Amino acid sequence: MRMTVIGTGYLGATHAACMAELGHEVLGVDVDENKIEALKNSKVPFYEPGLPEVLERNIDAGRLDFTTDYDEVAAFANVHFIGVGTPQQRGSYAADTRYVEAVIDDLVPKLQGHHVILGKSTVPVGTAAALQERADKLVQDGASVEIAWNPEFLREGYAVKDTIEPDRIVLGVRGASATHEESRAEEVAREVYATPLENDTPFIVTDLQTAELVKVSANAFLATKISFINAVSEVCENVGADVTQLADAIGYDDRIGRKFLGAGLGFGGGCLPKDIRAFMARAGEVGADQALTFLREVDAINMRRRQRVIDLAREELGSLIGRNITVLGAAFKPNSDDVRDSPALAVAGQLSLAGASVRVYDPQGMDNARKVFPTLDYATSLEDALNGAELVILATEWQEFKQMDPVWAAGLVDKQLLIDGRNVLDPQTWQAAGWQLRALGRTLG
Ligand code: UDX
Repeated sequence: MRMTVIGTGYLGATHAACMAELGHEVLGVDVDENKIEALKNSKVPFYEPGLPEVLERNIDAGRLDFTTDYDEVAAFANVHFIGVGTPQQRGSYAADTRYVEAVIDDLVPKLQGHHVILGKSTVPVGTAAALQERADKLVQDGASVEIAWNPEFLREGYAVKDTIEPDRIVLGVRGASATHEESRAEEVAREVYATPLENDTPFIVTDLQTAELVKVSANAFLATKISFINAVSEVCENVGADVTQLADAIGYDDRIGRKFLGAGLGFGGGCLPKDIRAFMARAGEVGADQALTFLREVDAINMRRRQRVIDLAREELGSLIGRNITVLGAAFKPNSDDVRDSPALAVAGQLSLAGASVRVYDPQGMDNARKVFPTLDYATSLEDALNGAELVILATEWQEFKQMDPVWAAGLVDKQLLIDGRNVLDPQTWQAAGWQLRALGRTLG
């Protein structure tokens, strides 16, 4: 099947490469010429394990190409995916939908024949219907465009697997009406996703607004789960209880489950923080003012965890001015170079603003971190990062940090003091090697 993927950021580039991997002929498009040039040369402009191989294999096989030319896109296929960004608006919680709108404005007037546009971007409920109206006004006589919504649930770090073997496929389609013929989107999606559907992937076909809400609800639920355990973690700290054992214990109840009960520095990234805020803003706009106010609390609990690490640093060091602090991690989570709203980088930045001399190390996120916080000191390796540290903060749980040998690390630092911001180190092993350990939600003797 032939298709185009519009927007080649995290979501779009992964989707384009993975659709080609499923055997389709795919053209990816973006307005950013540098990005397109890189992708054409089989270079992924961000870190995602496994994606460079999929990209190269499919470009070599002739199934995947990239362009900046919308005329090419209009002529290439009758099925188009939208994977452009919907960032948080400046000065508001709401999502900015101008890039999805721009896709409709640029593409639709060029289309001939019958086209199906499947939106993958995370959008406020009601966007797909508004885009359909927009497209209807722009479409040429004799041509038709159907907008459907097919939200994406991929996780950074597992993007290839999540796209090729999704745990569910959700499709929102419009109803037939006086102005629109019957929807063809389900038939198109069944062909696009023939391989996962053969493998019994659940396929939920619903209306546009439900599909839009599925995505933001899933992310709001995940964020709530993390903030729930982090709120409990605050109580644990005050009474000397252990939040990790508590999470294990409640996680055995399969109605609760242990996943996303990892207490620590909390969530960040390009999705969870922005999506819960956009969801709250949209709920207010559609008249459900009270419905999601608890998400404010979810957001606040999450932000308090960053402050808690700063407070712990102060408790241990007294004044922060001029103190050598090493922050391990800059990416918002391991296996990613994404530093958007990264708890690790927020902590590093705040410590630096409080006068500490902060050195940061991340296996993949250094270049992006440097762009956001050029004033921090960036180490060249884990060893370099630990040299002379008076306090080490483990802020992103990369494997390299989890496997660190406490005896080796002790030989490098000035003071054996560590805050485990992700609850991933074994306290006994570290304490046996002479370290003083602090953690979130646990009192370590
Ligand atoms: C998320 C959703 O999981 C995905 O389905 C959606 O498509 C996009 O948003 P992603 O942003 O890649 O994916 O990250 P995710 O793995 O969900 O982690 C989000 C944040 O939560 C990270 O900062 C992570 O460190 C944090 N987290 C996760 C915790 O603090 N504790 C946990 O137990 C799990």
